[in-house]
Amino acid sequence: MSQPVYLDYNATTPLLPEVWEAMRPYFLERFGNPASPHLYGKEAETAVEESRAAIAELLGASPQEIIFTSGATEALNLAIQGLARTYAHQARKHLLIAATEHKAVLDPAAYLATQGWEVEYLPVTAQGIVEPAALARALRPTTLLVAIMLANNETGVIQPIPELVELAHSAGAFFLCDTTQAIGKIPLSFSELKVDLAVLSAHKCYGPKGIGALYVRRRQPRVALSPLLWGGGHERGLRSGTLPTPLIVGLRKALEITLARLPETTPRILALRDKLWEGIQRMYPLAYQNGAQAPRLPNTLSVTFPGIKARDLMARAPLLAVATGSACTSARPEPSHVLRAMGLSEADASSTLRFSLGMPTTEAEIDQALAYLAKALQSLQPQKA
Ligand SMILES: Cc1ncc(COP(=O)(O)O)c(C=O)c1O
Repeated sequence: MSQPVYLDYNATTPLLPEVWEAMRPYFLERFGNPASPHLYGKEAETAVEESRAAIAELLGASPQEIIFTSGATEALNLAIQGLARTYAHQARKHLLIAATEHKAVLDPAAYLATQGWEVEYLPVTAQGIVEPAALARALRPTTLLVAIMLANNETGVIQPIPELVELAHSAGAFFLCDTTQAIGKIPLSFSELKVDLAVLSAHKCYGPKGIGALYVRRRQPRVALSPLLWGGGHERGLRSGTLPTPLIVGLRKALEITLARLPETTPRILALRDKLWEGIQRMYPLAYQNGAQAPRLPNTLSVTFPGIKARDLMARAPLLAVATGSACTSARPEPSHVLRAMGLSEADASSTLRFSLGMPTTEAEIDQALAYLAKALQSLQPQKA
């Protein structure tokens, strides 16, 4: 019988059973509010603070540098708008944003542009890389913030962050790194990357939806942020609202397991991705991959099928779950801004599928995915470009 195949792990991942088990008691018996002074509250507070310390340790941060949020979108908004509000009275009004950032970075920046900030977009090469020379040229004495993601959600391309951070810092600018897609897929340390602000979202790495975090550097330099929400003064006044203990416990567990399994999962997923690509090439020799081959996330494969509309391909392979753009933007029928920034024509950008593999992906699923694709391609005659 035909089975659905999920190859959209960059959009979201399933919860690991161990994560569910770790979270369960904090929904049922240990339900206290971590801010309450009684024993129920203390029990929850201990779970939150132990989780915070473990998450910080796993990501090369100190516990005070981790602010829990509802996910990466909120963390990115807090970083960008929080910084802009704090430094609004200063002369630094220039923001440099990579053209291939996620909408959760581009849209808050676009909002600031309507509020008197000068927002400039950094170009990328055809391989999707922000060249350090391009950043060096764009930096100004008035640059407040540089925002460049670590790994791209559509292509998996990994940016040369340490070099870019050094340039931003030498110009006196802060550096925000959207690490949402990299966390759980490659080893990383915020302190080693030397970024000032970074973000994560649990549902991208086998944790629950609705929890993420913002990393805010505390020293050299200390990053000052203004809150976007006011209330009980939680999270050192930066993010008021009752902390969701079960989700925080789940985030910790998901990170612990995902990161511990990396040495085993990385080569396995790489081999499966190679098999998928080889199969695609055999059935559609015109197909090409987008983005630098290395460094790249091991699970991500962006493929353009020239002459074939991605949405037609998806319609003819209904049991294959892949993405045409990033999940959060594919509701809007516009060709990917990431691929367009890399120089793809509108037609080629609309002919692109993103395959993203995950820990549960098996060889049988890759075979099945290739069979679905072959059938879909057979029924679609390539049109002349
Ligand atoms: C690179 C990147 N940044 C930010 C986000 C937003 O994450 P969330 O949906 O958890 O807010 C995503 C999700 O697709 C992403 O891929």
